[in-house]
Amino acid sequence: MPEDAVALADVGAGDGQLALHLRARGHRVVATERTHGPFERLRERSPDLDCRRGDGLSVLGPADVEGVVLAGMGGGTIARLLADALTNAPPLIRGLRWLVLQPQQGAGELVGWLSSQDFRLLGRAEAVQGGRSYSVLLVAPPR
Ligand SMILES: C[S@@+](CC[C@H](N)C(=O)[O-])C[C@H]1O[C@@H](n2cnc3c(N)ncnc32)[C@H](O)[C@@H]1O
Repeated sequence: MPEDAVALADVGAGDGQLALHLRARGHRVVATERTHGPFERLRERSPDLDCRRGDGLSVLGPADVEGVVLAGMGGGTIARLLADALTNAPPLIRGLRWLVLQPQQGAGELVGWLSSQDFRLLGRAEAVQGGRSYSVLLVAPPR
């Protein structure tokens, strides 16, 4: 994520580990989660974290954050959430400075879809966790 990132959303925050880590590093963080169980655990674990329950980017407003992280979901799910935002919330997604995407699988298909929608690939790294390698993509939205 960009060094100067200030306000960001972890979309699909699960139990909030990543969101809390990012907040501890000084970022302003919104944690969103679709599923009841993880969302309730997230709120209990960190009552002062800005937690919002809903599908994908639908619970974010245009000026809420400058960047979003979508990590730990399949590449197809990430593409679907971004496509929904392009259709339903163009000012939000086109107004983002950056997106960090870490698909659990389907990275190649996701990169192809991003290119077809005019997202710009700014960087790509491979992260190894638990003996598996994951792609981490830094992208900018279509203008
Ligand atoms: C493996 S966790 C990732 C947690 C965190 N982002 C990380 O990387 O450590 C994936 C989470 O995404 C949530 N999720 C899946 N589809 C979603 C959607 N459409 N909108 C919001 N959250 C979603 C799941 O419920 C799950 O809690």
